[in-house]
Amino acid sequence: MSVLIKGGRVVTAADDYVADVYVDGERISLIGESLDVAADRVIDAAGKYVLPGCVDPHTHLDMPFGGTVTIDDFESGHTAAAFGGTTCHVDFVIQPPGSSFAEALEQWHAKREGRAIIDNGFHMAVTDLHDGGSVEELAGLPDQGVTSYKLFMAYKGAIMVDDETLFRTMQVAAETGALVMVHAENGDAIDVLVKQALARGETEPKYHALTRPPETEGEATNRAIQLARVAGCNLYVVHVSCRESVEPIARARDASWDVWGETCTQYFFVDYSFLERPGFEGGKYVYTPPPRPKQNQDVLWNAVRTDILSVISTDHCAFTWSEQKAVGRDDFSKIPNGAPGLENRLQMIHSFGVREGRITLNRMVELLATNPAKLFGLYPRKGTIAVGSDADVVVFDPEKKVTITAAEQRSKSDYNLFEGTEVTGSPEVVLVRGTVVVDNGELTVQPGYGQFVKRARVSEELKPAAARAVA
Ligand code: URP
Ligand code: ZN
Ligand code: ZN
Repeated sequence: MSVLIKGGRVVTAADDYVADVYVDGERISLIGESLDVAADRVIDAAGKYVLPGCVDPHTHLDMPFGGTVTIDDFESGHTAAAFGGTTCHVDFVIQPPGSSFAEALEQWHAKREGRAIIDNGFHMAVTDLHDGGSVEELAGLPDQGVTSYKLFMAYKGAIMVDDETLFRTMQVAAETGALVMVHAENGDAIDVLVKQALARGETEPKYHALTRPPETEGEATNRAIQLARVAGCNLYVVHVSCRESVEPIARARDASWDVWGETCTQYFFVDYSFLERPGFEGGKYVYTPPPRPKQNQDVLWNAVRTDILSVISTDHCAFTWSEQKAVGRDDFSKIPNGAPGLENRLQMIHSFGVREGRITLNRMVELLATNPAKLFGLYPRKGTIAVGSDADVVVFDPEKKVTITAAEQRSKSDYNLFEGTEVTGSPEVVLVRGTVVVDNGELTVQPGYGQFVKRARVSEELKPAAARAVA
């Protein structure tokens, strides 16, 4: 099968030009002006952007969490992703207590088998280095294409690790070249604050945020950065939500340490006041770290613009509000933490980031596609439009107006964080490895099309010291 995408505005992290893109099989084989080639399908992209498929490095599909399981499995999650212009993601395998990493990986492969629509890789979330997985087994994962280890510094009594496990994993990563990802919050302090709040009868959703103050995120971010420096590993801080966490990352990057940070779409748009909405409406916004006071939103826009933060992900961790979240109606600590987002990242960041002048179009591509691909060992196969790259392409109509609503979303969640928001710009046609998967509102492949991708290690060119040497 060959596809010719004609006359679109090709936008990568570095370039912006009008061209034809010719796809032969799974890869891009030719880019040029007015290409004279025959193709099985011609897509007229005049007036449209031709973007690399977005890469989401932070999702939780079919994941047991908070006493339930996330509502989107690999089929519904991938459908949502594809409609939103995301063609590849990296999901978290959570090591069940007492299980080896091999057993955990096998479980997660079974979840995606026959359901995957887009491509995906896996990170390994380490929960225990004593009774199940060993440091030796952990060290072997990068050679199997699992090149990132995740540690939760919060969720005490569930998946939180102690500093010993965190540091030992960092030491292994220093040897194997894996990237250490941290959920940075001080889980011990939060656990105390939660118990004290409940003892005072403070049960509403807003207490989710009030028991996880920004300083607990700032402290853990700084601790992880300092420990990673001692261990000598690469560090990536996930879902940065506030100034307290941005600042230590900025300091580390300023010192050319190998530290990167990510924020997520929702932190630009949802603030603390959403948690105060009456009638348990606030429960929809219980995710972690929590929505912060509004002034943090400008801090985050500034951080993504100036490369303090390198990636915008979704942290898609979807539950239903009416059933799954309702379990915590009388006790905020029982509300499963997480929210949907896979479908709307590109629309939201394009509309309010690019169109409103906060970031450039090139920077948007870098934050949503190129940097995640480079950090997680997918580049240049994914994350750019180039000859030889996988033909993961989004033909994006920059003028199309869409009102975001749960009623029309593909996620199985029953609400949307951005309900009622009108965006300008939306994906029209989406290709994964040369096959059209979304065609003007229709899903055009069967579940099972998506492939597992073995990933390489973090790209050296992204390292702050290397970037400085080039500049
Ligand atoms: O609330 C969230 N973010 N749920 C998913 C797990 C995590 O902490 O990333
Ligand atoms: Zn987290
Ligand atoms: Zn997450």
